[in-house]
Amino acid sequence: MILWHKKEEKYPSIYEIFEEAVKKLEEKANGYTIRNATEKDLEVVREINLKTLPENYPPYFFRDLWVKYNKAFYVAVSPDEKIVGYIMCRVEYKPGFFKHFLVKSGHVVSIAVLKEHRRKGLGYALMAYAMKSLYENYDCKETYLEVRVTNKPAITLYEKLGYKIIKVLHQYYLDGEDAYLMARPLP
Ligand SMILES: CC(C)(COP(=O)(O)OP(=O)(O)OC[C@H]1O[C@@H](n2cnc3c(N)ncnc32)[C@H](O)[C@@H]1OP(=O)(O)O)[C@@H](O)C(=O)NCCC(=O)NCCS
Repeated sequence: MILWHKKEEKYPSIYEIFEEAVKKLEEKANGYTIRNATEKDLEVVREINLKTLPENYPPYFFRDLWVKYNKAFYVAVSPDEKIVGYIMCRVEYKPGFFKHFLVKSGHVVSIAVLKEHRRKGLGYALMAYAMKSLYENYDCKETYLEVRVTNKPAITLYEKLGYKIIKVLHQYYLDGEDAYLMARPLP
């Protein structure tokens, strides 16, 4: 069932979001940086994924996404040079949620920030960098993701970034929980 499908809705542009992300980092995460992941970072990224999410993947999955879409694969780095968060994406060619034809869509596959580094704007910044890259480097016209219906922090974050709930994916997760599919147009 489609819950939301309005084309004329207004979205904060990725450029407004990016500006806000930079401001938030200066205010709340002094000394932290966001940069593209290198191949050497992938092991730590996998460790963070294991610590923070029930959806885990074998090493080749991270490497494959990095090889194909490394311009939209970012890490958050703490002032003492530790990787404390990541975002990884996939570019897919699929029927659009907002246009009735095939579009390039930037799928946010996974994002996480270590618990002790949360609420500093890092999740917002990782998303801002990824959305900008999906548009500028991969020519994506939309972006979408799945999120557990009970994951309030993540849903709030995505709503702030202009994502809307498009539909419920029943029993999407292995433990039987439903997901919201959330999407927004780019830019
Ligand atoms: C979701 C997640 C990445 C957010 O990372 P973060 O760095 O804490 O997020 P930010 O500090 O950028 O938060 C941005 C906004 O999101 C919302 N938000 C974040 N955490 C929240 C929480 N616990 N409760 C309510 N809103 C929250 C707030 O609106 C926040 O803005 P504010 O701090 O100015 O109020 C982080 O909680 C996480 O890693 N969770 C575990 C992994 C996960 O669930 N990933 C998403 C899978 S779909």
